[in-house]
Amino acid sequence: MTAAVHERLELFLPRHLLAARIQEMGAEISRDTGDNPLLLIGVLRGAAVFFADLARAITTDCIFDFVSVSSYGSHQQPTEALRMIHPPEENVTDKHVLLVEDILDTGATLAYLQKQLQAQHPSSLRVAALLDKPARRKHPVQADYVGFTVPDRFVVGYGMDYSGHFRGLPDIYFLPQIIQEE
Ligand code: IMP
Ligand code: MG
Repeated sequence: MTAAVHERLELFLPRHLLAARIQEMGAEISRDTGDNPLLLIGVLRGAAVFFADLARAITTDCIFDFVSVSSYGSHQQPTEALRMIHPPEENVTDKHVLLVEDILDTGATLAYLQKQLQAQHPSSLRVAALLDKPARRKHPVQADYVGFTVPDRFVVGYGMDYSGHFRGLPDIYFLPQIIQEE
């Protein structure tokens, strides 16, 4: 993406707001977790940045793991068929699991992951999503911890991409509709 495209991004959530909210989420998760070790499972690739900050805001002992799920379509034209490209490396059975997602959109990814993980009988399975876009929901899923509820607009930055770009931006931006159509 060119510098001209960067200039047209619209700032939505600046880094200081993200940092403050993630500290609150970490404190809440730590309180709810008590003395139990927590298996954090990040959903690659979008949740990588959020995962790193959230994990450091949780004061209880955490084990790190990651999954990667692929849909055959694109964000603009998603397909329902999902598959696990990278399953968790840890055994999930009898563990307290916290799934870490960047954004809850249609809910297809979360519904799929919950089904896959529940089949292995964790002690508990909770979900932390940095962003929640409830207007787009097609599957009846929700997160236990939500950073921000957001309007039905495409966002980039802080791990989230548009066609692979913008993940490294430290703040979250709205992607102008005009760029999506180019
Ligand atoms: P789902 O529709 O809830 O299954 O969301 C699937 C995935 O699409 C999310 O985990 C994100 O990685 C990605 N996604 C959904 N909405 C956006 C967005 O506005 N910007 C960037 N990625 C998104
Ligand atoms: Mg994701």
